[in-house]
Amino acid sequence: MSAQTLLAEIAELKKKRDALVLAHYYEDGDIQDVADAVGDSLFLAQEGEKARHPVVLLAGVVFMAESVKILSPSKTVLVPDANAGCSLVDHSPYDEYLAWRRERPEAITVTYVNSSAAVKSITDVCVTSSNAEKIVGAIPRDREILFGPDRNLGRYLSKKLDRPMTLWPGACEVHVLFSSRRLHELKLEHPDARVIAHPECNEAILRHADVVGSTSRLLQEVRENKAVSEFIVATEHGIFHQMRKARPDAKLIQAPAEGSCACNECPYMKMNSLEKIRDALLGMKPAVEIEPALLRKAKVSLDRMMAITRGERVIWPETFQE
Ligand code: 13P
Ligand code: SF4
Repeated sequence: MSAQTLLAEIAELKKKRDALVLAHYYEDGDIQDVADAVGDSLFLAQEGEKARHPVVLLAGVVFMAESVKILSPSKTVLVPDANAGCSLVDHSPYDEYLAWRRERPEAITVTYVNSSAAVKSITDVCVTSSNAEKIVGAIPRDREILFGPDRNLGRYLSKKLDRPMTLWPGACEVHVLFSSRRLHELKLEHPDARVIAHPECNEAILRHADVVGSTSRLLQEVRENKAVSEFIVATEHGIFHQMRKARPDAKLIQAPAEGSCACNECPYMKMNSLEKIRDALLGMKPAVEIEPALLRKAKVSLDRMMAITRGERVIWPETFQE
């Protein structure tokens, strides 16, 4: 089947299902181009929640689609591939996270959205890399914080906000592979380049970075910092698609890993394809299903995140209630 026919089929099915198609910046360019909106994980959750469409297809990883379902339970939320996981989800099994949480019932548990619905259900507030500083800043100074499952984002926030936190030891298998040794060499070869990095990178990479931020913040830097014409980008390669569109004049250099692997690609994001998007809209599956009682509990932490992001005040629980 030609690419043209496939795109026409997707357009037809989108209309028929009255579906909104959302894509993350890490998807391949052809998927980003077929989407109604492309963004970071906070933006996708916000767009999914406010959509008037009864059906949302989220071309990203499963936890992103779960966030939309939890925020908008009445919608049908489709994913192109139900196996598109995330190493941070794998690194935070529910039973272990619960045991950790139980050890410190008086602490506030702050959980990165890159986590399962079950883990969110035992969390006080979620964060994304876009709003994490604002959310942590809203927690009273006298409250102890448990932060998981990404230790790099947690360490970065803790330092930046001068806020002690107990960190869960998870990490993103993609972002930890960038090599600080090779990045240092690359900076010597490109002394005028600006280094921009996602906070999931190791501390040694973040130390080299001029800008640390979410995928949308990194894209904004490339788009708006016209004084700079060379960027070394320490995040997943899919974002180059929008960066190239925004700044065709700029030189974009991928931050290097040790060796010559394609390790700057998220294998989970790359499970999606246009064919799978077509098939999901056609068969209305795979659809995200979350058991209603679990969904209600997980919604508390996501709703609290959305409220603080909108600038609202929230009430913090005194202690962990199971
Ligand atoms: P953003 O929220 O910055 O889009 O990041 C999501 C993610 O999974 C990064 O690896
Ligand atoms: Fe998860 Fe890392 Fe992939 Fe983001 S890049 S979805 S954190 S495995």
